[in-house]
Amino acid sequence: VDGSTRPRSFRQLLDAVMTIGADLDLHTVLQHIVDAATSLADARYGALGILDPDRTYLVEFLTVGIDEASRARIGDPPLGHGILGLLIAEPKPIRLDDLHQHPDSYGFPPGHPAMRSFLGVPVMVRGEVFGNLYLTDKRSAPAFSEEDEELLEGFATAAGIAIDNARLHANLSGLALLQERERIAMDLHDTVIQQLFAVGLSLQAMLRRVEDPALGARLETAVQDLDATIKQIRTTIFDLDTAAKDTGGDARGRILALVADVGGSLPASPRLVFDGPIDSVVDVALADELVVVLRESLSNVARHAQASRIDVEVTVDEASVTVCVDDDGKGPVLQPDSHQGSGLRNLSHRALRRGGSFELSARAGGGARQRWTVPRPT
Ligand SMILES: Nc1ncnc2c1ncn2[C@@H]1O[C@H](COP(=O)(O)OP(=O)(O)OP(=O)(O)O)[C@@H](O)[C@H]1O
Ligand SMILES: [Mg+2]
Repeated sequence: VDGSTRPRSFRQLLDAVMTIGADLDLHTVLQHIVDAATSLADARYGALGILDPDRTYLVEFLTVGIDEASRARIGDPPLGHGILGLLIAEPKPIRLDDLHQHPDSYGFPPGHPAMRSFLGVPVMVRGEVFGNLYLTDKRSAPAFSEEDEELLEGFATAAGIAIDNARLHANLSGLALLQERERIAMDLHDTVIQQLFAVGLSLQAMLRRVEDPALGARLETAVQDLDATIKQIRTTIFDLDTAAKDTGGDARGRILALVADVGGSLPASPRLVFDGPIDSVVDVALADELVVVLRESLSNVARHAQASRIDVEVTVDEASVTVCVDDDGKGPVLQPDSHQGSGLRNLSHRALRRGGSFELSARAGGGARQRWTVPRPT
């Protein structure tokens, strides 16, 4: 190493480090790292392979110097066998004049550009291997030098810090988002709900003094609507609080769609109330089940009840998930066994399978209640 190149190289290293440090988005940082490493070492091709949490294979492979068309011809990115795997097995720099001569080399897939010289260094984040930088084909020399290796090691250290920063930043913006959700949830609870409660209470007070029965009935409906609204807002609050844990079951969306779908075949369109943290608790499997259960219950109302009002309530509380369908029809009539359909039996069976229960019962004021309840999935 002659004395004149060293200062210039360190200057380059510094420049390279500066270009990665500026951005806070992790993916951008990673791409900057490969770009900077490749030009720092004067390589024709560069790649950053990111390891899975168990550090056995590459989950991501960001490249420089290979265009889209070649990438498409090569096919799937490497998992980390052969030479790439050496760094995974033992995270320390590897420098080869010709990578084909290494015993672990097993050649390239068809369509892969020819590569000769090789330099690889691990990238550590907080003392653990995050991934590896792979550089090939030194442009200005037949092979990478010891100095290239030193520079790249220094650069990899800086890259590790930049990655750590970007991750920290991502976590912080996640936190800011959560705090924002929490704030909205609190506002909804402390102002909106309290106001609705106040309105509801004054309506109820009024109700006691109203003599006109028609007006009384309308007030009653208004109070019930307020109650339903409050329940819905409570659900929204739960969802805001737990949005991060969304199970993807989309029970709410699917139930809404079902009710809209079968509404036409019913004597009245069902009033639907959701209560509790449905989106974060009901997974795909249970959502499937709730849809089936509700469809059967509604079909029973349509076929047997002669109802004029239908209330559907889907509730998630600390212990259970419940679908309750109330109607104001003629009420359940005991059928001789021979006339039993399989609908109710299936509902019971589905509930029992999950350690829950199903019941068709007569309601106090007339009509039937179909209540299906199972323990909350853990
Ligand atoms: N909401 C309801 N109101 C009044 N009777 C009901 C209600 N739901 C069910 N029933 C009674 O319970 C019986 C059994 O219901 P079940 O769902 O098992 O069979 P089904 O609806 O007749 O046929 P399917 O096998 O197609 O469901 C019905 O035939 C009906 O008499
Ligand atoms: Mg039925």
